[in-house]
Amino acid sequence: MNLHRIREMHASGEKIVMLTAYDATFAALADEAGVDCILVGDSLGMLIQGHASTVPVTLDQMVYHTQCVTRGNKTAWVIGDLPYGSYQQGAAQAIASATLLMQAGAHMVKLEGGGWTTEIVHYLTQRGIPVCAHLGLTPQSVHALGGYRVQGKTDDQARILSAHARELADAGAAMLVLELIPATLAEPVTQSLPIPTIGIGASGACSGQVLVLHDMLGLTRGKPPRFVKNFMADASSADAAIRSYVRAVKEKQFPEQGVHTY
Ligand code: KIV
Repeated sequence: MNLHRIREMHASGEKIVMLTAYDATFAALADEAGVDCILVGDSLGMLIQGHASTVPVTLDQMVYHTQCVTRGNKTAWVIGDLPYGSYQQGAAQAIASATLLMQAGAHMVKLEGGGWTTEIVHYLTQRGIPVCAHLGLTPQSVHALGGYRVQGKTDDQARILSAHARELADAGAAMLVLELIPATLAEPVTQSLPIPTIGIGASGACSGQVLVLHDMLGLTRGKPPRFVKNFMADASSADAAIRSYVRAVKEKQFPEQGVHTY
């Protein structure tokens, strides 16, 4: 997998399948099951480390997990999450942090937010680092947002998110994660952009989908968010569940409008 192929998939309307992984074993499973992009998400702060949010995750920890994932992966496109505090100071800090993730084996880095991140995205992409942007519910800002809530519900919020998406694409972002926004916003944003959008609790209209590994395997404690489907429910192994997720996204069976969307 490479950016050229991802752009071809976007142009042809083939859905892009992304899944998180944090270690070599699950990276190999995801890769062999046909996942296009593996996200080494800072959601590992909750799932691996037992924190209440992604905020405590450090850059050193992201480097370590990116190294683990790239040892297990052979062909998928690997995206390393820039954690909280590793790019907020500006372009110089962002490139130093992104360099460590790329040297750990990531093919692309992901960062959260719009507006203030545009300059950073431009700086990184001009220097040869592919960037995936992330708008909507941005978990690193959970305390500022007042919890894990659907974003972009008002006209003003929707207008700002659409403008940020356009700016990020113009600045060179090659992909955009849209998290927890109404389908009525995800669809026009996706249609208006020259780059693929990857939805999580956004809409089937997005160019692809991402789920958190533990969520789709039914392992996450507590009540899962509405956008999650437990693919283990009808599968006899983790491998079969991941294959079923890949198939469901490619065949546009997941997410189901009105069931997994807002
Ligand atoms: O960290 C993560 O797993 C993510 C996904 C929720 C998109 O950012």
